[in-house]
Amino acid sequence: MKREHIVSVNTSLCIGCELCVKDCPTATMQMEGGKAVVTTQDCIKCGHCQAICPEGAVSLSGFDEAPERITPEMRVSAAALLGQLKSRRSVRRFTECEIEPELIAQIIEAGRYTPTGTNKQGVSYTVLQKNIAAYEAPSIRLFRRLKRVIDVFYSGFRAIEIDEHFLFKNASAVIVIKGADEVDAALAASSMELMAQSLGLGVFYSGFFTMITRISGKLRNKLGIRRGEKAVTTLVLGYPAVRYQRTAQRETAEILFD
Ligand SMILES: Cc1cc2nc3c(=O)[nH]c(=O)nc-3n(C[C@H](O)[C@H](O)[C@H](O)COP(=O)(O)O)c2cc1C
Repeated sequence: MKREHIVSVNTSLCIGCELCVKDCPTATMQMEGGKAVVTTQDCIKCGHCQAICPEGAVSLSGFDEAPERITPEMRVSAAALLGQLKSRRSVRRFTECEIEPELIAQIIEAGRYTPTGTNKQGVSYTVLQKNIAAYEAPSIRLFRRLKRVIDVFYSGFRAIEIDEHFLFKNASAVIVIKGADEVDAALAASSMELMAQSLGLGVFYSGFFTMITRISGKLRNKLGIRRGEKAVTTLVLGYPAVRYQRTAQRETAEILFD
């Protein structure tokens, strides 16, 4: 649930450097008498004013956590980041090990810190761990009916057997990423996938399960999907029972430079 946040400037700490004024994307911060002032609370509450202030003079109320100081250790090298992206694979075979709650919390944290358009932060999550079968079994029943239609148009799919673990593949956790804005939710999911990989977990996106949520109102209710929202994507997670030795080959990027 979104809370009210008030931006304020401690004028005794403000040195009038104007950094917050220059960096404010909504021109909310202005200079008055050599000090920064907040002209309206009707801004997107992005926190740039607070983040950039060298004196800690700007604050935003209503958050449970204080801002953290940004250190060089928080940055990932370009080589490490590209290496992680290139070595990432969809993992569909998992061990029986449970995923610790702290790891799930870190994965959600990666989603929470992913940017959203106009900072609306409307992405939410449903985590399935203990009750996965209660979601998978009815979804499989629906999926089997759907597959008969898919098979008519797509022959490459016909040989696949739909057993009772087809959707989640005995994974230890499933996270459904929900929201009204598809881009916001998909970006969050991508960050979460990388975080899961960094934590030693294997992940795949279940487009099939996401598709089932579109046709079953009962499933949407069970997942806590509100009117105007949808399950944008679904991450299926577990400790990997496979280890890949090399990266995948990809098509060359189609790029237009002007
Ligand atoms: C949006 C999306 C939906 C996907 N849905 C499924 C799915 O339902 N089942 C599955 O086994 N893999 C699914 N995948 C995995 C893709 O098949 C996989 O990413 C692709 O073949 C490339 O392989 P890689 O991820 O190992 O590099 C999905 C991937 C994405 C991005």
